[in-house]
Amino acid sequence: MVKLVTIPVEAREDEKAVKRLGHYSSAQSILVVGDGDLSFSLALATAFGSGEKLVATSFDSYVHLISMYIKAESNVAELKRLGATVLHGVSVKKMKKRTDLMSRRFDRIVFNFPHAGFIGKENQVHMINAHRLLVQRFFRPLGEIHVSHKMGQPYDRWEIEGLALEFSLSLFEMVAFRKEDYPGYNQKRGDGDRCDEEFPLRNGCTLKFQRWPR
Ligand SMILES: C[S@@+](CC[C@H](N)C(=O)[O-])C[C@H]1O[C@@H](n2cnc3c(N)ncnc32)[C@H](O)[C@@H]1O
Repeated sequence: MVKLVTIPVEAREDEKAVKRLGHYSSAQSILVVGDGDLSFSLALATAFGSGEKLVATSFDSYVHLISMYIKAESNVAELKRLGATVLHGVSVKKMKKRTDLMSRRFDRIVFNFPHAGFIGKENQVHMINAHRLLVQRFFRPLGEIHVSHKMGQPYDRWEIEGLALEFSLSLFEMVAFRKEDYPGYNQKRGDGDRCDEEFPLRNGCTLKFQRWPR
């Protein structure tokens, strides 16, 4: 026998109003850190038609940012127009002191392709350690944490899953990162003379972590 379930009109309308992009939805409060030229945050806010639940952050100061990335100035202006909170000079290494970010729980906290800068070759131990320290510091705020990262060598040597476990975060899903899911997003090298250039995204994955016990 078919069981009929009636969904209240208000619930159907709420569902209709929620907009989705990639792993994210307009119903979620989202913190994005280390967002290069802020094009990832802007892709979300544009798709949602609002940035009201979005906190978009750059590691660099505003003045530095607009000198690094050709589109940063217009991306920031558009994010603000859409109602997003845009913060500059936010270092995950100093996250503990950011009471504005640490005192609230976000539904999603996102760091795409963390990278500590081009201070050596990617397979050198001091580089791997610098990247690991960066990711480790990112695991502090409360909420479901997403790290997008390249798979294979030397990136597997960062051992992100192990770092997360130190913070009681367990990996519950790993999915291929599809740039085409985020129209307008441009992955940036983020450091040095070629900071505004893209890097190859092959083997990029989004790792999703949740704190346990929940
Ligand atoms: C490879 S780029 C990726 C940029 C951006 N997430 C993207 O997907 O295009 C690495 C980013 O890490 C950021 N970063 C480096 N050190 C950081 C720190 N201590 N806190 C926050 N972000 C940092 C850099 O500013 C740069 O934007």
